[in-house]
Amino acid sequence: MAKLVIQGNGPLNGRVAISGAKNSALPCLTACILSSEPVTLTNVPQVDDVATMCTLLSELGMGVRNLSHGVEIDGSSIHAHATRYDLVKAMRASILALGPLLARLGRAEISLPGGCAIGARPVDLHINALKQLGAEITLEHGNIEARCTRLKGTEIYFDKVTVTGTENVLMAATLAEGTTVIHNAALEPEIEDLAHLLRAMGAQIKGEGTSTIAIEGVRELKGATHEVIPDRIETGTYVCAAAITAGHLFIDKCRPNHLSRFLEQMQRVGLPLSVNGDTIEVKPHTGLLGKDVQTMPHPGFPTDMQAQYMAVMTQAKGRSLITESIFENRFMHAVEMKRMGADIRIDGHNAIVTGPTNLSGTDVQATDLRASASLVLAGLVADGETVIHEIQHLARGYDRLDEKLVMAGARIERVAI
Ligand code: EPZ
Repeated sequence: MAKLVIQGNGPLNGRVAISGAKNSALPCLTACILSSEPVTLTNVPQVDDVATMCTLLSELGMGVRNLSHGVEIDGSSIHAHATRYDLVKAMRASILALGPLLARLGRAEISLPGGCAIGARPVDLHINALKQLGAEITLEHGNIEARCTRLKGTEIYFDKVTVTGTENVLMAATLAEGTTVIHNAALEPEIEDLAHLLRAMGAQIKGEGTSTIAIEGVRELKGATHEVIPDRIETGTYVCAAAITAGHLFIDKCRPNHLSRFLEQMQRVGLPLSVNGDTIEVKPHTGLLGKDVQTMPHPGFPTDMQAQYMAVMTQAKGRSLITESIFENRFMHAVEMKRMGADIRIDGHNAIVTGPTNLSGTDVQATDLRASASLVLAGLVADGETVIHEIQHLARGYDRLDEKLVMAGARIERVAI
């Protein structure tokens, strides 16, 4: 285990390179279950959740080979359909194996993912949709027990937009008999990236990136090579790091059009930034303004950027109302920031931030992935030393966050405990 010790050290200055998107790499990895031929994924981020997912696949009997530029997954030797509780406990995204296992093997046994710090995180939408595709699914002893002959395509209507729910059905439908149409599908770039991989494997898919996706089932999928898209949330996190320190940062190897609403919000608060191909340049500023924001499904303001944005708003002039409309408990970072001196009032799904306030370094507790990142950002500008405990949350989803920030001038030390 380790902790991060951060000394406020003035404006960041330099360049960071964005890694592959965790939330695309994870469904792309489970998509490999669908084929008996090897699939090579490149630009895969070095994060713990990817390592956990590779362990899950290898325990199903699949070949997992780390390459210099990515990972090769070989589904020809798959011989199991059950996942271990502690893997699912460590990573809720294990649920993404459900659809592919049903489609490939006709069986799946996955621990029911529990909630996490940010909410109950139910999977009822996944289960109901897969039942409509013909799966028999029971919940017994905390396990999802699913079986089917061959899934049968149908019209699926999601009453609520669900990213991994859309991904599970999209993957399952590629091998179903007939046509599946997903209505009210999620629009996230990660869905499009997954569809691009599946199409390269031979799937017949139309409409990804819109709210209606049509899939014509085929008998089998083949191998493919696919480059995972850059991580839009990692990108936004570094934009916030430059903003909170009034620094000058070049963010390379990103996909700016995947976070347009977030970038537009940062321009609203007065952050000078420019986009040039796959680079975002954040320029020094002399002050930011507090502006309201509400998290929404893509293309709205991402819930995964809410904590990082709140950290920036503690240094902006005036009041900002931040409304979290996706998850029911995603303000834990606010409690820790208040201990550092931030002026934040929580009222249900709303957080009212008044700034700028001087933050003072202290010991803080990371609770979830994005909350942890927001505390790192707060530590960059706090007076004195900020010590972030429980940083395993960070390692789940950020590829060398502390190293990349140190390269841009931050003073961060990783201390083993
Ligand atoms: C994905 O989670 C992401 N994770 C999350 O990123 C992200 O915050 C979230 O989408 C929203 O953008 C991955 O892609 C691995 P949802 P997911 O299903 O799919 C409710 C991060 O920090 N819901 O879109 O689990 C749910 O409770 C993580 O990288 C149901 O009610 O989110 C939530 O209120 C955190 N029943 C809303 O829908 C269901 O069956 C949206 O959840 C499924 C979801």
